[in-house]
Amino acid sequence: MSDLVIRKIPWTFDTAVPFRWQPANPLMGIFGNVFTFFAVPFEQYIIGALRDAEHLITDPAVAAECRAFVRQEAQHSSAHRKHLNSLIKQYPGLEETRREVTDRFDGLLATRGIEFHVSYIADIEATFTPLFKVFLDHRDSIFGGGDPRVASLILWHFVEEIEHRSSGLAICAHLTSSRWTRTRFAPATAGHVLGVIETITRGFDRHVPEADRGMSAYRAMRSDVVLSELRARLRPRFRGPRRNPLPARIFHDVSTRELAGMIGRLIASQAPYHNPADQPLPEWAAVWMRAYERGADMTTFFGR
Ligand SMILES: [Fe+2]
Ligand SMILES: [Fe+2]
Repeated sequence: MSDLVIRKIPWTFDTAVPFRWQPANPLMGIFGNVFTFFAVPFEQYIIGALRDAEHLITDPAVAAECRAFVRQEAQHSSAHRKHLNSLIKQYPGLEETRREVTDRFDGLLATRGIEFHVSYIADIEATFTPLFKVFLDHRDSIFGGGDPRVASLILWHFVEEIEHRSSGLAICAHLTSSRWTRTRFAPATAGHVLGVIETITRGFDRHVPEADRGMSAYRAMRSDVVLSELRARLRPRFRGPRRNPLPARIFHDVSTRELAGMIGRLIASQAPYHNPADQPLPEWAAVWMRAYERGADMTTFFGR
């Protein structure tokens, strides 16, 4: 028996969901749209790869965890698909982008073996708890003022990624011969993820008019997310305050110590003996779950 809860939440998105859904933190707005275009095909890849791997699982507890994990990811995929479809309806060229990203994941399924798939899944999933803890701990400065539907969708997804933080690793440990296998595949995984992000952001720049996106999505994800954080944090120390203001940063409200801790945990998440059970967790995940259990409307839970 797995402890994971399968929550079917009635998400609704229509064409009124703007591409710039988070004007108060524009880089987060781009990141959230990239996340949607990444999540749908990635989670379909998880479902496809684990369907092929299921018959190899000999431990009933791992098999139960695998089934529950796949069901949660299927919920995420279908919820984000609604957001994705609303963006494609407004910018039909993005259908091409969706297809290109799907092709990249189908390419993995066609050319790689089970050990790679479960490593790829475990490697990515292991980064989510350190990363999403920062988003949840600083939700007001990151999501505040944004469209409540998109903000609530992403926050729900982050909460459940933290809930099933051990699933991908348990499946990977069961189906690979060595703890080092997934660490060995980490560079190939990172390379593939960066390639997918490039495809998505170049698609946004090609198919969404600049007036609607406000900035180059490609530049925002390739350099601005990291470089503007570094410039803002290091420059005052070495060269004094800047004359021109920097573009708003996703993590402007997060201390350098916290960000450094997150980066350390992200690196550690790829190591062979990483155990997600030891991770510090965001308190708000429990707040979200209690509200869900009370029967609150989670589709606009954040930002009302
Ligand atoms: Fe997910
Ligand atoms: Fe996941």
